[in-house]
Amino acid sequence: MAVRLNPNGLLVFLLWCVLGGISTNWELRSSMKEVLAELEKRRDNAKLGGGERRIDAQHKRGKLTARERIEILLDEGSFEEYDMFKTHRCTDFGMDESHIPGDGVVAGWGTVNGRTVYVFSKDFTVFGGSLSESHAQKIMKIQDMALQNRAPIIGIFDAGGARIQEGVAALGGYGEVFWRNIQASGVIPQISVIMGPCAGGDVYSPAMTDFIFMVRDTSYMFVTGPDVVKTVTNETVTSEELGGASIHTTKSSIADGAYDNDVEALLQIRRLVDYLPMNNKAELPELAVYDDPAREDLSLDSLIPDNPNKPYDMREVILKTVDEGDFFEIQEKFAGNIITGFGRVEGRTVGIVANQPMVLAGVLDSDASRKAARFVRFCDCFNIPLVTFVDVPGFLPGTAQEYGGLIKHGAKLLFAYGEATVPKLTVITRKAYGGAYDVMSSKHIRGDINYAWPSAEIAVMGAKGAVEILYRSELDDPAKIADRTKEYEDRFANPFVAAERGYIDEVIMPHSTRKRISRALAMLRNKASELPWRKHDNIPL
Ligand code: HXC
Repeated sequence: MAVRLNPNGLLVFLLWCVLGGISTNWELRSSMKEVLAELEKRRDNAKLGGGERRIDAQHKRGKLTARERIEILLDEGSFEEYDMFKTHRCTDFGMDESHIPGDGVVAGWGTVNGRTVYVFSKDFTVFGGSLSESHAQKIMKIQDMALQNRAPIIGIFDAGGARIQEGVAALGGYGEVFWRNIQASGVIPQISVIMGPCAGGDVYSPAMTDFIFMVRDTSYMFVTGPDVVKTVTNETVTSEELGGASIHTTKSSIADGAYDNDVEALLQIRRLVDYLPMNNKAELPELAVYDDPAREDLSLDSLIPDNPNKPYDMREVILKTVDEGDFFEIQEKFAGNIITGFGRVEGRTVGIVANQPMVLAGVLDSDASRKAARFVRFCDCFNIPLVTFVDVPGFLPGTAQEYGGLIKHGAKLLFAYGEATVPKLTVITRKAYGGAYDVMSSKHIRGDINYAWPSAEIAVMGAKGAVEILYRSELDDPAKIADRTKEYEDRFANPFVAAERGYIDEVIMPHSTRKRISRALAMLRNKASELPWRKHDNIPL
């Protein structure tokens, strides 16, 4: 049967379709508007965390909120938040009445100067930032993403430990977070920033990350707080005395640095991230640089004092060697007899380790050995070449050191240098005595290029000590002893005995240090060095 279209009918039909469409669209649009408004409302509500009152309290304490911190840490507008609406599932102790979206941690990713980082920031305004099962899951998700996508992760801590109402579910959450810290160690850089309380279970995740930074006066870290300490040991101690930034940067060495306020700390973390590769297989970041790699510095030729017992500032050598004098020091306030930190040469990151004659004559003790060993291992994990400046009179003698395990701590540094396969450059500026000579990235433990300034003294020990042992019978004859000392100095107080054996590749002019280092680093860029297969080594812990 043929179908005949009535033109009027068609017109009516078309009109009906169009009008119907418009009205459906209109209804849809207005309901969509409501949906979008609802989303905005939910987001705004989530962003308020524990509410205005608690946010004000946070500000009154001189602290920023979790979200404000992320805004400063990341490039503007780069933060992508996940799990903003996640809440806990606890029903005990009235918790079923109290659900706050986000559950005390803000998590996601963004960029720092254009490079991806993952971040989680504990929100103290929500249940004191305490960790519940759901809260832990948010952190775990970010940890998994960071590891899978091989980008650094930064955790910001301001929290009261395990969510007390949740019991073992919170403990399980901590365990999962810890396990992920361990999996990521040496694969991606992990950084912790402590910006408030950090107690109980919260301390162990930072402790397994690569760096911990604190904020002075507003942050503290301890396993058990002052009240428990009082009950168990009867000690009366404040939070600051027990675990403030001053303690952890000078005494315990738990923290790698401290800053005056949240803003300064976060800006410094941005600076640190610029030095770090994304992961253990990534290239070193390379920044545009305007400092001539062949720049000479004549002032270095007169840096070493005539008197070998007079100190000078090794920091000057470092600042005059790296690009634009830009140096990010790690553990500045701890074991000042050794300096560790990041600089750049030809725009590429280097790790610097240097004995500091200004503090304890630059001697190696347990603290200095531990500090430098950990830094060397971090650099080796992430393929950051090591530049070592040596002026070391030996290991520190005494019962305090020996009882404190100097042998094992010193061995840590020896081990760390010996197992490091990154390019290793060494410059001996003055003393390199005894075992400390071997330890400080010597040729024998596979320093790649070992330079010495003409002022270097490479020997088993200093002249005075040597003569007192070798010529004990002549000690009551000062003239004879002076002759012996002169003889020893003439023979050993120079770099040439070591250079004759090839232990020193070249005796260099101090003013050419930057040029020699940048050329050597360029030459070593494709260094290939492998360790024998093993499950892992057994560094003396
Ligand atoms: C649930 C917590 C909490 C926690 C704080 N809050 N800690 N809620 N679980 N662990 C809540 C408070 O009830 C309060 O809620 C808000 O957070 C702010 O806490 P205040 O005490 O008012 O703040 P402040 O005086 O600044 O003291 C902060 C604090 C203190 C020092 C962190 O709250 C505290 O000592 N908390 C408990 C610390 C602790 O012992 N945690 C458990 C550790 S054991 P309102 O509603 O009033 O705002 C642990 C084991 C894990 O972590 C081990 C894994 C290996």
